[in-house]
Amino acid sequence: MKIIVEENYQMLSERAAKIIADFIKKNPKCVLGLATGSTPIETYNLLVEKYKKGGISFKNITTFNLDEYSKLAPKNEQSYHFFMNKLLFSKIDIALKNTFFPTDFSPNFENYDKKIKEAGGIDLQILGIGTNGHIGFNEPGSKFSSKTRQVLLNKNTIKDNSRFFKSIKDVPKKAATMGISTIMKAKKIIFLASGENKKEAIYNSFCKKVSTKVPASILQKHKNVIVILDKAAAEKIAKKE
Ligand code: GLP
Repeated sequence: MKIIVEENYQMLSERAAKIIADFIKKNPKCVLGLATGSTPIETYNLLVEKYKKGGISFKNITTFNLDEYSKLAPKNEQSYHFFMNKLLFSKIDIALKNTFFPTDFSPNFENYDKKIKEAGGIDLQILGIGTNGHIGFNEPGSKFSSKTRQVLLNKNTIKDNSRFFKSIKDVPKKAATMGISTIMKAKKIIFLASGENKKEAIYNSFCKKVSTKVPASILQKHKNVIVILDKAAAEKIAKKE
């Protein structure tokens, strides 16, 4: 595991976008695993810039998103479909038929894993982390052997994500997520975390023993992970060093 600490969110995003763009240049037909949340927003903006400058093309790329709320229509502004379309897909040359979300396979979520396998597996997975250490929507306690499935969100996640909704009551209680084993099968992972509110989760994930209590800790066992943090998110691990 390689850990890179950047000064701030902008520099973290530039670093991530460069790694992803270089990867796409070398592997123009690759399969990308995509994350939502506020952390990757600037990375996506920068990838759009690179695309517009003619540096990269998404024409032959297939994407699989990590997760999606259950029962939110793709047109709902809070859905991850909407997020990805608005931020990335509508601004690049990707074929929408090659973009997939786990809820598209509801209720046969196991078909999402099959679809990923048929596509040749995820070459590069972009990953964030919840303040409780979740990856995708794999909440603490999720089995490391878990596959794509529907899950119940825990209170902490509902509270954290309520900032994107009018009221906490509007946050869906269920979501579909790639499983932890699905994520671990990705050939390469770029993990991003920014901000002081992530420092505890980062410390628990990378400085302690691997535990299902902290889903992201399993990444310690992945052979090809680049962790990119800003100083605020790295604060507790930096103090330890
Ligand atoms: C959500 C998503 C996760 C994401 C996390 C962090 O719960 N399901 O995949 O990593 O939020 O979001 P943010 O980047 O907004 O902190």
